[in-house]
Amino acid sequence: MVDTAAHDRILILDFGSQVTQLIARRVREGGVYSEIWPYDRADTAALAGFAPRGIILSGGPASVTGSATPRAPDAVFAAGVPVLGICYGQQTMCHQLGGRVEGDDHREFGRAEVSVTADARLFGADWPVGGRQTVWMSHGDRVVALPDGFRTIAVSDGAPFAAIADEARGFYGVQFHPEVAHTPGGRALLQRFTHEICGCRGDWTMAQFRSEAVAAIRRQVGGDRVILGLSGGVDSAVAAVLLHEAIGAQLTCIFVDHGLLRDGEAAQVVDLFRGHYNIPLVHIDATDRFLDLLAGVDDPETKRKRIGATFIEVFDGEAAKIGGVRFLAQGTLYPDVIESVSVVGGPSVTIKSHHNVGGLPERMNLALVEPLRELFKDEVRALGRELGLPDDMIGRHPFPGPGLAIRIPGEVTADKLAILRKADRIYLEELRTAGLYDEIWQAFAVLLPVRTVGVMGDSRSYDYVCALRAVTSTDGMTADFYPLPHDLLGRIATRIVNQVAGINRVVYDVTAKPPGTIEWE
Ligand code: XMP
Repeated sequence: MVDTAAHDRILILDFGSQVTQLIARRVREGGVYSEIWPYDRADTAALAGFAPRGIILSGGPASVTGSATPRAPDAVFAAGVPVLGICYGQQTMCHQLGGRVEGDDHREFGRAEVSVTADARLFGADWPVGGRQTVWMSHGDRVVALPDGFRTIAVSDGAPFAAIADEARGFYGVQFHPEVAHTPGGRALLQRFTHEICGCRGDWTMAQFRSEAVAAIRRQVGGDRVILGLSGGVDSAVAAVLLHEAIGAQLTCIFVDHGLLRDGEAAQVVDLFRGHYNIPLVHIDATDRFLDLLAGVDDPETKRKRIGATFIEVFDGEAAKIGGVRFLAQGTLYPDVIESVSVVGGPSVTIKSHHNVGGLPERMNLALVEPLRELFKDEVRALGRELGLPDDMIGRHPFPGPGLAIRIPGEVTADKLAILRKADRIYLEELRTAGLYDEIWQAFAVLLPVRTVGVMGDSRSYDYVCALRAVTSTDGMTADFYPLPHDLLGRIATRIVNQVAGINRVVYDVTAKPPGTIEWE
């Protein structure tokens, strides 16, 4: 792991907000390394060990007015570094330092306007006195009396203390959420906090990370051999190229091609990694094996389980053939390792763990190398660009492990896969031509196990229905359908029906998640 202590660091204490990760991403976009900890982990020793340049207290769903709700450890206010409280963070800071917070009838949710009433280092020239700023609010409680030393620097209709400051101690609080895109001036505000007030240098860049990660991988791996499963996705691709830069031929990539990838993807993986980067690559074309085990199976869970178990079996078999392997590399990202806080119903901490090839490290007695563990997805993409990976691989939409099998409801056959691949290729091509691909979180075609009647030329057709899906999302947990222009949808439908034998009707999925899911199975 990269030694982040060499960088100026900001600590974010999580009180359970839905958008805590956005705070960390915004801070890092400003070139400052930040970590998210559960709020109660920041005792004196832990803070001294981490030595943050500043601390940000996140929002959260609880009410400070409740007796058993979370509080920032006292060590936070005694650490001698600036503190920024956001929403619940502002309220608990006020409450703990001697102010007062009350429940309120005048709730503010969504867009609001704040007026800047006084000069403050937090605002600088970006938020001038007398100006109004659009912000995003989400609060029921509000601060009604300030602790000693604080003054008001901005107000809104629902929050007389929309922003507050104790400049002597470097303590600031904002009732709104500067981390979300709906607060247009929020990024500048967070950067003023991290750079001007905390004095961070902005030394966290992907160029810097690249050289530090290479050194860290060499330290961890020494002269031993490493294997890595390539999937065609951006995370494993970036991990592979970074590892190869660090340890060259000590890395072997294994690409289990289950025959459920999109058009041309398997060939691209082989060409890029073996051909362009010259990375030792074992390419197993296991298409027949996967199609055999999917024959006659139409239950979605059975399909998923069979694909998952066989994938591991094949990977395992190939890995065992490569002698002397000590490490398994994975493209685990920072969101996979953040300890999540559940504040409602009592603090409980769960740690998500992520194993792309579950069970393998233990079975083969392998240690893990996770060179992307400190990074968010947008940082992985920036690192990928830094490493020269092609744009179409870096910007690729997420793709599920079971691949096209879960986009063919019911039984999967070679014929259906061929039909779906053609339709999907046309769809994605049109989205790219229209310049919409990068605005969409995920877009794909689904081949429905339904035949309908159509008329083509002078004859009657009886073919499959193709459903198109395109969604916006930030994390795949919730999503909304993307409002594709009707003329574009019409063009795509015409091309698919004319050019893909086997499909005679195209429909567009306008379901949000929840209640729908992104995939159809
Ligand atoms: P759903 O369909 O649950 O999808 O709304 C949320 C996100 O997860 C992806 N997904 C999967 N990824 N194995 C995976 O690796 C799976 O079995 C799987 N199912 C869904 C989906 O593509 C979306 O990004």
